[in-house]
Amino acid sequence: MALKVFITRDYEGMSDMAYVSLSIDLIRKTNIDGAPFNLGLATGSSPVGLYKRLAAYQHTFDPSLMETWNLDEYAGLHGKMPADRAAHKESYYRFMCENLFSKLEPKLKDHHIPKGYRIDAGEMEHAIRKGIETGDVTLVGKDNGKAVIFSQKCTDEYLRKIDAMNKDYVKSMEDAGGIDWWVVGSGEKGHIGFHESGIPLNNDMFLVQLDENTRRNAKEDGHFGTYEEVPRYAMTVGAGGVARLSRNVMLLASGERKTEAVAKSLIDPITDEVPISILQRYIGREGSDALYVIDEVAASEILGRKKQLAGKGIELTDMRQ
Ligand code: GLP
Repeated sequence: MALKVFITRDYEGMSDMAYVSLSIDLIRKTNIDGAPFNLGLATGSSPVGLYKRLAAYQHTFDPSLMETWNLDEYAGLHGKMPADRAAHKESYYRFMCENLFSKLEPKLKDHHIPKGYRIDAGEMEHAIRKGIETGDVTLVGKDNGKAVIFSQKCTDEYLRKIDAMNKDYVKSMEDAGGIDWWVVGSGEKGHIGFHESGIPLNNDMFLVQLDENTRRNAKEDGHFGTYEEVPRYAMTVGAGGVARLSRNVMLLASGERKTEAVAKSLIDPITDEVPISILQRYIGREGSDALYVIDEVAASEILGRKKQLAGKGIELTDMRQ
C-alpha cells in the first residue's frame, strides 16, 4: 500500500534485504498456502546477490510452485540459428539459467523469457527500414532509445511475428493472474528492463531500439568486446506493463551510476524521462507495495530528504545502523 525506500550499507546488505522482503510472500504462498507464486525477474548485476540467496535458501520455499517471467531480452544477438543465439554468452536466457534456474531443485513450474533469440538481426532491421518507408513502423521516444511501434495495417510477416510474440508474452502473464512480485534494476537514466528513457509509459511490451548510453554501458561493463557487437534492439516489458501487471515491485540499485536516476524518480513527478518513476503509482495503491532496496551510494541524493519524501507519501528507512 505504499512506496517504501530501504537504504542499506552496501550491495550485500541490499541483497539480504531483498531476499528477506521477497521471502515473506514466497514462503507463505508456496509453503503455507500451497499456492502458485508468479515472479517477475530482471538481469544485470543488481539482482545477482538476490538470486544467490534464493538458491541458497531454496529449502524454505517450493520452487515447483514458482513461475517466472523475465523483463527483457536482446533481439538479434550474433548467431546463425535461434539455438546459437539463445546460447550466446550474453543472452538473458543463458544468464537466467546460469544464475538461477539451474540452481533450483525441484525445478521451477515454468519460466518465460521474451523470445529475442528467435530474431535474426539482418531480417529484422531490413523489415524495420522498409516499414519506416511505408509508414507501417514508427519510432517513438524523445531521447535516443525508441519504441518500435507497428501500425495495425502492417503486413510484414517478420514484424507481425515479433508483435505476436510480445502480445502472447503479456497474455501469458494475464492468464496466470498477474505477477506477485517483480524484481527490477535500473539503467543509468532510470530505465526498467529495456524501456529506455523518453519512451512513453503506456505500452505493456514492445520492440525497442536501444539508447547509445545503454549499449555503451553494456560494453563498459565487459559484456561485449566492442560497441558494435552490442545488439541494437531488444524486446522488453514496458514500465507501464510492469505497473499494470505486477501487484508488488522491488527495485534494486547500488553504486554511483544509479544515484541521479533514483533521486529524480522519487523527487520529481512521474515522467517517461525516468521510467522507474512509474513506481510512484504504487503510493496509496490498495494491496500493493513498491520497494526501493538500494545501497547508500545510490541513495546519496535522497538521504537528507526524508521529510520531503514523507510529504509525497514515500517512507524512507535507513537500515545502516
Ligand atoms: C540492462 C538490463 C536492465 C538492467 C540494467 C542495469 O539495461 N536490460 O534490466 O536493470 O542493465 O544493469 P545492472 O544491474 O548491471 O546495473
